[in-house]
Amino acid sequence: MDPQTPLDFVRDRNLALELVRVTEAAALAASRWIGLGKKNEADGAAVEAMRMAFDSVQINGTVVIGEGEMDEAPMLFIGEKVGAGGPEMDIAVDPLEGTTLTAKGGPSAIATVALAERGNFLHAPDIYMDKIAVGGGLPDNLIDLDASVATNLRNLAQAKKCDISDLVACILDRDRHKELIAKTREAGARIMLISDGDVAGVIATTMPDSLIDIYLGSGGAPEGVLAAAALRCVGGQMQGRLMFENDEQIERTRSMGHADPRRVFSCEEMAKGDVMFAATGVTSGPMLRGIKRFGHGAITHSVVMRSRSGTVRYIEGHHNFAMKTWTPT
Ligand code: FBP
Repeated sequence: MDPQTPLDFVRDRNLALELVRVTEAAALAASRWIGLGKKNEADGAAVEAMRMAFDSVQINGTVVIGEGEMDEAPMLFIGEKVGAGGPEMDIAVDPLEGTTLTAKGGPSAIATVALAERGNFLHAPDIYMDKIAVGGGLPDNLIDLDASVATNLRNLAQAKKCDISDLVACILDRDRHKELIAKTREAGARIMLISDGDVAGVIATTMPDSLIDIYLGSGGAPEGVLAAAALRCVGGQMQGRLMFENDEQIERTRSMGHADPRRVFSCEEMAKGDVMFAATGVTSGPMLRGIKRFGHGAITHSVVMRSRSGTVRYIEGHHNFAMKTWTPT
């Protein structure tokens, strides 16, 4: 850890906490669209609010995990510069993780951001990533994406001193996971299927109250990097492997600096060095309560974490729209 002056220490801390204001803004804007069946509108509102909120954060930020390439995303596109000036940082954003969840009023939609020093996030295109993750306090190198589901479950049960039948695996409810689901059940574990939101699904492995022991299956690669950032802060193990549908995706990944695009990335390789992670609940889930709106305000629940200190803060925000410079309605 680099030596810090007291002033560096305070500035650093402020930066971590400033992130919450960014996720709060996105979640508040998205909350207007909860249950209205309009996922693009919900996403658009979150993106715009997050973009504005970054203008007051004291960083020289570059979006490396964002809403897509410059020509397909009007804001928070990969390569976009954000922030009010300050240290050079790389930023991973998902202004609304769970657009369909929000549109349907389903659980566990969040607004989320992670920050690392320049060059410390895996540059991942918007393709699928095969993922496996477990929580903290377990023997090192316990999980292996190249091993069978049964082997991973057996090793986890042994480490947790329980039966495989005591384990709960979280898997996205998708046709592409039919075989994975069958093999998991065959091995004897129980499954919690989620309809969306695998950042929260991965983080849930680290939370005793969530009942989830292991995350399995494929989801977005950008979501994989965000989840890895959170696990770096709270502890836990994760591996991810990019999944390619064509040669163009492989070439695109190579051009992002990966000599071997098909290899397995560890949590530490996806989010290196000192990492900060923040999320605000849009709809309620095991990690965070969703937004409660009333008259001229709302209550938000957020979490901010940092890998260097391991501090995890839960923040409840009471917002009075009449006193804000912008109104998320
Ligand atoms: P969106 O918020 O972009 O809709 O993503 C939700 C999500 O469920 C992610 O959590 C997950 O990584 C990804 O979609 C899975 O993709 P797909 O829906 O194509 O299986």
